[in-house]
Amino acid sequence: MTDKIVTMVQPTDSGPPDLLDRRSRPLRDLRISVMDRCNFRCPYCMPEDKYHKDFQFLKSTERLSFEEILRLAHIFSGLGVHKLRLTGGEPLLRPGIADLVGDLSHVPGIDDVALTTNGILLAQHAAALKAAGLSRVTVSLDSLNEEVFLMMSGGRGSTGQVLEGIAAALTAGLTPIKINTVVKRGVNEHTVLDLVDRFRDTGVIVRFIEYMDVGTINHWKRSDCVPSRELLAMIGARWPLTAVKANYHGEVAERYRFDDGVGEVGFISSVSEPFCGSCTRVRLSSDGQLFTCLFASRGTDLRNPLRAGASDDELRALVRGIWGAREDRYSELRASQRKDDKDGKVEMYYIGG
Ligand SMILES: C[S@@+](CC[C@H](N)C(=O)[O-])C[C@H]1O[C@@H](n2cnc3c(N)ncnc32)[C@H](O)[C@@H]1O
Ligand code: SF4
Repeated sequence: MTDKIVTMVQPTDSGPPDLLDRRSRPLRDLRISVMDRCNFRCPYCMPEDKYHKDFQFLKSTERLSFEEILRLAHIFSGLGVHKLRLTGGEPLLRPGIADLVGDLSHVPGIDDVALTTNGILLAQHAAALKAAGLSRVTVSLDSLNEEVFLMMSGGRGSTGQVLEGIAAALTAGLTPIKINTVVKRGVNEHTVLDLVDRFRDTGVIVRFIEYMDVGTINHWKRSDCVPSRELLAMIGARWPLTAVKANYHGEVAERYRFDDGVGEVGFISSVSEPFCGSCTRVRLSSDGQLFTCLFASRGTDLRNPLRAGASDDELRALVRGIWGAREDRYSELRASQRKDDKDGKVEMYYIGG
């Protein structure tokens, strides 16, 4: 890979020139998985039978250190990234996470540091994260019905703990808070209206995510996925909705506002309406592999060059080459080129959602 294939064009606003991939998509967002472990065992992500008590997660020395993450954040911001999202696994399991947030929030060019969590440890971390410079949180919550919640979390945690976490995040000002709800056919779609009802006048935005075929271990079937248009019809029949414009280019959720003026909901339809054409995201696993697609089979190792003493210029050239050569659009090709298990797609807990 060489710099020759890379296109750079001057953006309209200030900042570094846009780095474009082969489909003219600029690089804007970096998702950093800071922890491969999780305290949940959601069957659609880390099923208990595979991630049992003897499963070998990364050793702490194999994970990127905070210094290494920070150094890469500087490199990426110099290439056009201005949003960072910390994820996992469960990011709040990473010791000292607020310190990392503090350092990342001071990287020149980064104007948004967000975090996605299952919410179980959020009540104890919310104030410190805000004080450190975290902009906002997204909390995953698949149902308010305790039994259904436990089915979706692999029997871990409770709705009460997640709701306490959301309340603490609201008090701390980690807003706007978004809730991610994965909907799986026959498991939780009957609890969708309760979730909307609970949050629609609180400023918290619920976003329904189509159950996706990330990784290979969740035995995904298309029939398990509830298309967003079905949920839109169900919610709209109860509370009329009107589509709202995206907040920015590349926003993944389609937004709808309640006609009675109270709040909004979102739909992330990566299965039924792929949005690869506007994808500006790149993902870094906790051991330093860089992935240009959530559905990728392999990434590019940045940890070895980092630890072997690569200069900033060398790391920048490596990332430029990776983004410049990017042409993946897995979701758009899903129907015609469905990858099967032997492709070894990377798991979501590993590269982060
Ligand atoms: C991998 S998790 C990591 C962060 C944190 N542990 C959490 O659950 O919020 C990030 C997001 O990916 C979503 N997710 C995981 N597996 C998924 C799948 N197969 N389809 C759709 N969304 C999925 C989760 O629901 C969560 O909102
Ligand atoms: S979705 Fe999040 S909470 Fe659930 S197992 Fe995956 S990483 Fe853990």
